Amino acid sequence: MCGIVGITSFQNVVPRILKGLACLEYRGYDSAGIATIDDGNFEVRRAVGKLKNLKDVTHLNPLQGNIGVGHTRWATHGVPNEINAHPHSNDYVSVVHNGIIENHAELRKSLENKGYVFVSQTDTEVIVYLFTEYLKEGKEPLLALQSVLGDITGAFAFAIILKQNPDVMLVARQGSPLVIGIGQDEMYIGSDALVVSLWTDKVIYLNEGDYAILTPASYQVYNQKHHKISVEVKTVEFKENAVGKGNYNHFMQKEIFEQPKVIGETLLHYADHENFTTKLTTKADWKNAPRLSIVACGTSYYAGMVAKYWFEKYAHIPVDVDIASEFRYRDGVFLDKGITLVISQSGETIDTLMALTLATEQKQQTIAIVNVPESSIARLASDVLMTYAGPEIGVASTKAFTAQLTVLANIVIYAARQRGVMSLTQEKELLTDLFTVPGLIMTVLQNEAEVHKIALSLEKADGVLFIGRGTNFPVALEGALKLKEISYIHAEGYAAGELKHGPIALIDQETPVIVNAPSNDKWFEKTLSNVQEVVARGATVICLVDVIGQQALEANHIPNITLKMPMCSTFVAPIVYAISMQLIAYHTALLRGTDVDQPRNLAKSVTVE
Ligand code: F6R
Repeated sequence: MCGIVGITSFQNVVPRILKGLACLEYRGYDSAGIATIDDGNFEVRRAVGKLKNLKDVTHLNPLQGNIGVGHTRWATHGVPNEINAHPHSNDYVSVVHNGIIENHAELRKSLENKGYVFVSQTDTEVIVYLFTEYLKEGKEPLLALQSVLGDITGAFAFAIILKQNPDVMLVARQGSPLVIGIGQDEMYIGSDALVVSLWTDKVIYLNEGDYAILTPASYQVYNQKHHKISVEVKTVEFKENAVGKGNYNHFMQKEIFEQPKVIGETLLHYADHENFTTKLTTKADWKNAPRLSIVACGTSYYAGMVAKYWFEKYAHIPVDVDIASEFRYRDGVFLDKGITLVISQSGETIDTLMALTLATEQKQQTIAIVNVPESSIARLASDVLMTYAGPEIGVASTKAFTAQLTVLANIVIYAARQRGVMSLTQEKELLTDLFTVPGLIMTVLQNEAEVHKIALSLEKADGVLFIGRGTNFPVALEGALKLKEISYIHAEGYAAGELKHGPIALIDQETPVIVNAPSNDKWFEKTLSNVQEVVARGATVICLVDVIGQQALEANHIPNITLKMPMCSTFVAPIVYAISMQLIAYHTALLRGTDVDQPRNLAKSVTVE
């Protein structure tokens, strides 16, 4: 969602702020803007749509300045137009903000009563006038910031530059991420470490409620109680090319093709490849845990759904899987010694973060699987297990999903061992299976020509159904999500056995049905029957099957388009079949000419509920 970048320096910052905005694009946005102070005056440029539009504006009407803030806005309060775009400024301050000021309506009313005239529909504008009010009262910038923070509620991160103090930048964080970067005679701020790592490897992650005052040569951080605090300066490393597209056309394509390496690296961290045992441990007490609650959103939620099948089968523990936005408001029951496991690529998804907060308050043992170190979720959970996927820039999650599944598979094995329900032989079998995954994925990735043909049969469809059973049911849901989010074709995933209970009414000759059906799982025959039911109703069926599955389809004279999958064990099938789901969505989106990496309306990191 909204992205913030800022620099205070002794040199012109404009080209770098524009570069920083490009680095934030992946978060999702619909307008962008920049403000600097030049010769004692604010210079503000804003534009709706892609960053190119803002660059065009700054080209036609150039600006400069040694201090500046930039913003990519994902509209919440007010439509995406130039007036609502950030920075929001008056003659005193210029503000960029991520998150929501929940009490903005009452603050707006009281500021209007004092004579302030609001020009935008945003909640952000209240920060501008609150600040102005305190500055007019004669408060120093830092005291004004403290007063503003006392007035506003909600989840936010913001940065402010002040006309009267043209080298000072004030920043605050509560519920939305904000990182400070320390440079040589300049300071940076950003919504994530990726953006500040463009200029420095020394970063400070602000904690909840922290705020700071920055000048080119100094920084001071304060906590919620207004005490000066000394903070740890961390070193960030981003591997070369980790944030570039390399030779690929899209980040999503690059990230799909990185998966053999990503799974390999994640396995190296968590599994012993000589003994075929898991090295992963958790602080949680699995032996006495009465239940596991898995909580996440979107694709990460589907990873949790796959894990439910695994946990129940191998670790014999009852599992609930919840969508975070439901979990946090559901008045659920928390059992003594219960474990809550949250899954999040970004580590910033607000609903997942709040679900974790709730579980912590309810004295649950908490574990987080995240891809971004130092993210809010990573900092709150008592146990953190990283996915080693590297930065995921494409809005549609790909490599993070399969890395999450790899971590989950290892937790399942560890939990099963702790609960005394898995033998060493079985552990070795499962680990052996997991170590085949990078190779199996490489085989799937070689199938692109076949995937392209399938995409041709989907390109014009108004709707597509994805079906599967067992662990391939969540994979069907994930396939449908991938297709709808990047190609904008309506798609739904169903448990194959559920079709007859309603969705089969959707079947006609125009509705392709994509079937995930590995032959060596116990659901194969049942899925085949479901395929026959939809074929009988005229559907075009696209079957993802291995060689035995293909023979079964031929023996039963089931007309279908086949995407040949490698033989793999039931345990790892969801990881392997997910790759084809990603490729099908990617190629269909290419044919439809959509914006694969930044699909409309979507944000990579969902920091508002
Ligand atoms: C879909 C997708 C989203 C995310 C969801 C959760 O491709 O990327 O559904 O999975 O927004 O995000 P994280 O995992 O960052 O909490």
